[in-house]
Amino acid sequence: MVPDLFIIISSDTVRSTGSKRIREITAGHERLDVIARCFLNTLRAANRLAFYTTFILYLSHPKENKAIFIPISKDLSISSELDALLFLVSCFKSEKDSVQIRQISFGNLIRSISTNTVLFYLHPNGVSINDFPKLISPTDSLIFVIGSQKDLTSNQERVLHKFGSTRLSLGDKKYLASHVITVILYCLQMNLYKDI
Ligand SMILES: C[S@@+](CC[C@H](N)C(=O)[O-])C[C@H]1O[C@@H](n2cnc3c(N)ncnc32)[C@H](O)[C@@H]1O
Repeated sequence: MVPDLFIIISSDTVRSTGSKRIREITAGHERLDVIARCFLNTLRAANRLAFYTTFILYLSHPKENKAIFIPISKDLSISSELDALLFLVSCFKSEKDSVQIRQISFGNLIRSISTNTVLFYLHPNGVSINDFPKLISPTDSLIFVIGSQKDLTSNQERVLHKFGSTRLSLGDKKYLASHVITVILYCLQMNLYKDI
């Protein structure tokens, strides 16, 4: 069976309603630009990995608490940040059959997908990425949870702790979420396919 790979990025600025004009978004409105870069980097790396990959955007604004599930398919013709933005905007308009938007608390989201998966929370204070290979095996399903332009809240951190997450660190410096995604998925690829 193909293992699952979930990339979860949490944002309290992106809203499910309201204007999603590209000119405003590229100027930083709701910081959907941050999510678009994360989505694009996930897509590029996921196509090189033997996982069934789902990108989950969690809207943590108190009036939202929604998860947007976007299955990553090789058929998605997205090759630029603008393509990624346009795709995300179309998800909010329910134009994509494969994309699901679900009202769910962060805790229930993690509960619903964390059975039989290894749960990682990306944080500068954690186990070094160099030790990552020791923590997984090739058949494991994996979840990586990442902050957006802001870190996760302490409540979200408590949830992750409750579900047995391991903090994984790229070092003391803080990196952009999209760069963190590229690094972890590259490490995953190197670790799983090093014998090829
Ligand atoms: C741009 S950072 C969040 C904002 C950041 N705390 C700041 O002060 O600007 C985005 C996310 O990437 C992840 N991240 C950033 N640096 C990291 C590191 N050195 N190791 C592991 N994860 C990191 C964390 O999940 C973080 O919430």
